[in-house]
Amino acid sequence: MNIRRENIADYPAIAEVNVLAFGQENEAKLVEEIRHSNRYIPELSLVAEVEGLVVGHILFSYINLVGEERLQVLGLAPMAVHPRFQRQGIGSALVQAGLEIADTRGEAIVIVLGHPPFYSRFGFELSVNYAIESPFPVPEEFFMVKPLQSYQERYKGKVVYPPAFEKV
Ligand SMILES: CC(C)(COP(=O)(O)OP(=O)(O)OC[C@H]1O[C@@H](n2cnc3c(N)ncnc32)[C@H](O)[C@@H]1OP(=O)(O)O)[C@@H](O)C(=O)NCCC(=O)NCCS
Repeated sequence: MNIRRENIADYPAIAEVNVLAFGQENEAKLVEEIRHSNRYIPELSLVAEVEGLVVGHILFSYINLVGEERLQVLGLAPMAVHPRFQRQGIGSALVQAGLEIADTRGEAIVIVLGHPPFYSRFGFELSVNYAIESPFPVPEEFFMVKPLQSYQERYKGKVVYPPAFEKV
């Protein structure tokens, strides 16, 4: 398995993996909308390939954190692994690779809405422990954050997702 940055030729395969993994088109459309927005970070849209075929994808993009200050932080979403390739460590490798790139870029914190047993493996913690609030009602254990080396205490407040996320 190889993990690398996406390129234009990967777009159809990335859309397919998202549709197959989620069983709907919303996440594939979200990826496309983010790509066309100023929230897109090309080096943080990663694919996992096996024998030259794209079998997994992860996207980290900018979302807002609004408290006393309005700050840009990273949102992890969506992530998808082709159903035939799930539970082989590909999703974990994508998360790990993305977190390393984010850290190297000097990003402060990553926000995710997802399954606690999976994300806690990578050091994600409850967002409430960092005074970071979800914009919608969700059981608090599902809204998680991963502080990176550049994290400072001023990163707190309410998360505001860009309009592209409203359809997911
Ligand atoms: C979530 C996903 C990306 C994980 O990819 P993966 O390659 O299977 O992940 P890994 O093999 O590294 O890790 C597997 C672990 O993820 C967890 N996991 C995977 N999918 C899960 C799900 N839908 N719900 C809860 N836990 C899940 C399991 O705990 C599993 O651990 P186990 O094998 O020890 O039981 C993949 O299952 C997927 O595409 N799911 C459908 C889309 C989705 O739900 N995306 C995440 C939300 S954005």
